[in-house]
Amino acid sequence: MSNNLLAGKVGIISGALDEKSIAWKVALKAHSEGARFVLTNAPLAMRMGEIKKLSEQCEAPIVPADATSVEELENLFTQAQEHLGGKLDFVLHSIGMSTNIRKGKHYGDLNYEWFQKSIDVSALSFHKMMHVAEKQDAMNEWGSIVALSYIAAQRVFPDYTDMSQAKAVLESIARNYGYRLGRLKKIRVNTISQSPTKTTAGTGVGGFDAFFDYADKMSPLGNAPAEACADYCVALFSDLTRYVTMQNLLHDGGFSSVGISEDIVEALTKANS
Ligand code: NAI
Repeated sequence: MSNNLLAGKVGIISGALDEKSIAWKVALKAHSEGARFVLTNAPLAMRMGEIKKLSEQCEAPIVPADATSVEELENLFTQAQEHLGGKLDFVLHSIGMSTNIRKGKHYGDLNYEWFQKSIDVSALSFHKMMHVAEKQDAMNEWGSIVALSYIAAQRVFPDYTDMSQAKAVLESIARNYGYRLGRLKKIRVNTISQSPTKTTAGTGVGGFDAFFDYADKMSPLGNAPAEACADYCVALFSDLTRYVTMQNLLHDGGFSSVGISEDIVEALTKANS
């Protein structure tokens, strides 16, 4: 069902790799709510070709950009404004990657070049996007910028290794750039801290199935699915959330407020009997 929440709004959606991607669901939802947008991803992801399907479905042009490159981001923001015929109302940062996680390095054995790459791809790229948006004066007043985070920024999830630090930096950037863009142009900046979700980036984390099930059992509402995350992103892009900014918004079915749940007690009691 569409409420036309984003009628007349235009933006950029990054990070749609395949149908499982959170950004993919955001694109579908934003399209159904009347938004027009440009899709972007790293040139490497583009070669995998899946994004073309989404582009056709949403009538959204694709502009490749490695989000670590300010130059490529400048081209992205310029082209997006050209394609869409003016300044932007929303931007989604849905980008994360850790080579340390991919290669199964544990926290005591991290490769520091890869560590820096994780921070660059997963966090500094968010700063770079907003830097370019500011320099180009690419956003409309009351625009909305959202990035996706994970609770490992605040709590220890051992297998999340260097991505925990990347997410902490990402959330800090949201607060600091949120202050700046709020003062400059009433643009809001938030992160959504999403439940574990079965995507390429998600399932790449060691022990993913265990912490997916654990989080599901801990959360009174269960894990929030990607489609619900898309709904939340769209709500944040809409005019209904105009005074929400500089926040890390937990979209986790209640996980973060629970100490222990009956489901976990039951599972442990069974295991110990
Ligand atoms: P995904 O693997 O579908 O998306 C990650 C995207 O990042 C891919 O499209 C990939 O091509 C893109 N990317 C990687 N390097 C890039 C670069 N240099 N330039 C531009 N794009 C690049 O996985 P998912 O889960 O949809 O991830 C989206 C966001 O959600 C990430 O920030 C992730 O950390 C976050 N998140 C995911 C959770 C999960 O359990 N899947 C939980 C909480 C947050």
